[in-house]
Amino acid sequence: MKARIFLLIALVAMVSCQSKDPVERRIDKLLSQMTLEEKIAQMTQVCGGQISDNIAEQIRNGAGSMLNSVGAEADYYQHIAVEESRLGIPMIFARDVIHGFRTIFPIPLGQAATFDPDIVEEGARIAAKEAMQAGLRWTFSPMVDVARDPRWGRVAEGYGEDTYLASVMGAAAVRGYQGNDSIVQMAACVKHFAGYAASEGGRDYNSTWIPEIQLRETYLPPFKAAIDAGSLSVMCAFNDLNGVPASGNKHLNVDILRDEWHFDGVLVSDWASLQNMNNQGNSANLKEATKLCMDAQMDMDMESKGYPRHLKELVEEGKVSETTIDNCVRNILRMKFRLGLFDNPYCYTENPEYFTPESLSAAQKAAEESAVLLKNNGILPLNNNSKLTVLVCGPMANAPHEQNGTWCFDKDDAMTITPMMAFRKLAKEGKVRLIEQTGEHWSREFNKENITTLVRLAKQADVVLYFAGEESILSGEARSRALLNLPGDQSEQIRAIKATGKPIVLTVMAGRPLCIREDIDRADAVLYAFHGGTMQGTALANLIMGKVAPSGRLPMTFPMGEGQIPFYYNYKMPSRLMAKSPKLINDIPLRAYQFSVGESSYWLEYGNKPLYPFGYGLTYTTFEYGPVVLSDTCLIASSPYNLIASCEIKNAGKYDAVAVPQLYIRDVVGSLTRPLRELKGFQRVNIPAGETRTVTFEISEQDLAYWHLAEGVSLGSEGEYTFSAEKGDFHVWIAPNAAEGEYVQFALVE
Ligand code: NOJ
Repeated sequence: MKARIFLLIALVAMVSCQSKDPVERRIDKLLSQMTLEEKIAQMTQVCGGQISDNIAEQIRNGAGSMLNSVGAEADYYQHIAVEESRLGIPMIFARDVIHGFRTIFPIPLGQAATFDPDIVEEGARIAAKEAMQAGLRWTFSPMVDVARDPRWGRVAEGYGEDTYLASVMGAAAVRGYQGNDSIVQMAACVKHFAGYAASEGGRDYNSTWIPEIQLRETYLPPFKAAIDAGSLSVMCAFNDLNGVPASGNKHLNVDILRDEWHFDGVLVSDWASLQNMNNQGNSANLKEATKLCMDAQMDMDMESKGYPRHLKELVEEGKVSETTIDNCVRNILRMKFRLGLFDNPYCYTENPEYFTPESLSAAQKAAEESAVLLKNNGILPLNNNSKLTVLVCGPMANAPHEQNGTWCFDKDDAMTITPMMAFRKLAKEGKVRLIEQTGEHWSREFNKENITTLVRLAKQADVVLYFAGEESILSGEARSRALLNLPGDQSEQIRAIKATGKPIVLTVMAGRPLCIREDIDRADAVLYAFHGGTMQGTALANLIMGKVAPSGRLPMTFPMGEGQIPFYYNYKMPSRLMAKSPKLINDIPLRAYQFSVGESSYWLEYGNKPLYPFGYGLTYTTFEYGPVVLSDTCLIASSPYNLIASCEIKNAGKYDAVAVPQLYIRDVVGSLTRPLRELKGFQRVNIPAGETRTVTFEISEQDLAYWHLAEGVSLGSEGEYTFSAEKGDFHVWIAPNAAEGEYVQFALVE
């Protein structure tokens, strides 16, 4: 009998083993050969940047990953891992390749402004191709934190304020980095999980409080989209979310990421975030933080030193089980197998191909598409004119380091084309006459002499092309700003130039939306270009000269002033309706009675509108949007048929240009209050001058679904959440931005 039972068990084990995926079988085999120390080493990410005996020793002992080790150095260490460590497990080399490796693309916020996922995908593909030649197989990108506060410097690194846009762009970036083959090119790492961008006051590393429903509705979908697109890894955020630091947050990392989403890739900490958990005060020391992260099933420790120092001890004390460790190592090895590292650990090449014509032209196209025309009194485009004298000036006119933006360790300023260089080329070709502002200038400069010179030069020019903005160091990680003006005396320079009576074309190259209403008022045309990378100079010259018509759209609401922040388009209707023309502070009569100016929701200084809404952007033509036509007035729940919304768009001007129709939907009455509008689709449509195109969008029941409480559960109780559409009326717009257009109504019915 005993023998029979034994045989049965052996048979079941054999069958289940054989039914396992071959990769899982290889992982099991390797795991069975690894010592506890080797497993912990796999879970540790070491920082490189130098050849050192100490690092080499850690690798011989089985270190799993390195960050910031690039090129020949990475190759050297990989040889040690494969040839000199006991089991020869290859390392995975990681780096922040955020918007390009050598060829720099616009910052992600600028890429979001293209409303063109193909641009994002292509940029990521090229970044991966370049980075892999330096031995890198893992990038800490894309950042999909939905960001509604431009004071937070990291808005530069993400795709703006909208959940849908961030989801589409994040998924495109993952596809670009990882490629379509069964062997992944470069592993993406979607970050920062989760809620990081909601930091209080826009101050980096700050606390976030996000109710579960808002977390699910606003902040989590882009992560899910990136994971569905195949992202092999996820990075924890620095912030504490509802009192629990993200790295040790079981609700995020276990309940949602592993149990709900079944994520089987690598969850890596952010840099030293276990140590940060002590600063945050939810653990007294590194050992306690290590235990919390293990409870939250975080696979890899990036430079906190908690895992290498304390994990073994925690296992020996019985506080962390070896099964937990095995699960983490399994995830790490799985990523390495998916990258084909065991078969092909080396990808470094001594003769890399960087800045190829293909990469440069993609970077230029991205920079062209990312610039948003905010204002134009008709001065743009300038068009080729050998008699037109332009003054090219401003701190960003010739500042290669600055225009590349935050996070580009491997850029080459010498390969970067600035606006000044591009206009020099045009002048040489006889397409324009150029006056240059000479000398080095920076955005925070205060210099009276400079202003005098600018006024003198402006008087000699027909048009002043002023390139304003922020230096790259003013945005990105740890670069929160309280005042979102143009730093230094840029506004004073613009004022002085304006006084000469010469027309000003203002181009802003910045890492975030700035509050520059008065500067915009003084300009005749304004292009908002973000930090646009290697080819931004050529791209801007093409836009200004009319070789290319602007097609960028704002990925964030531009506020009138900092006091409106956070201000995003998909807010909810306030309890008292918004007055059409609210009385502003200086219009209120003296000794006015309380409530005599009404009871509506607005700011006394600004009214209730932003300076520019989400999705906004002009071009050199005008588009006329026809009414939205629906295929039906009802959508039947659970039926396989979708609604079709369509609209005609006419290019009523003289230039061929790209329209960016945006599909917005409002759920008129919900069991929870619903946003005024939500983006559900967008397209880029090239429409030749004088022609009309019909655009169509499908609307499914899924597009109407949202997170709310399950029936019978009241708010404030231990809620059960559900993601579904509720029956009733909906409004739908196909509009050029979040503030325009006329809606039509339909109903979701039984
Ligand atoms: C800290 C940042 O928050 C994260 O985004 C980055 O990937 C890591 N450092 C690694 O450099």
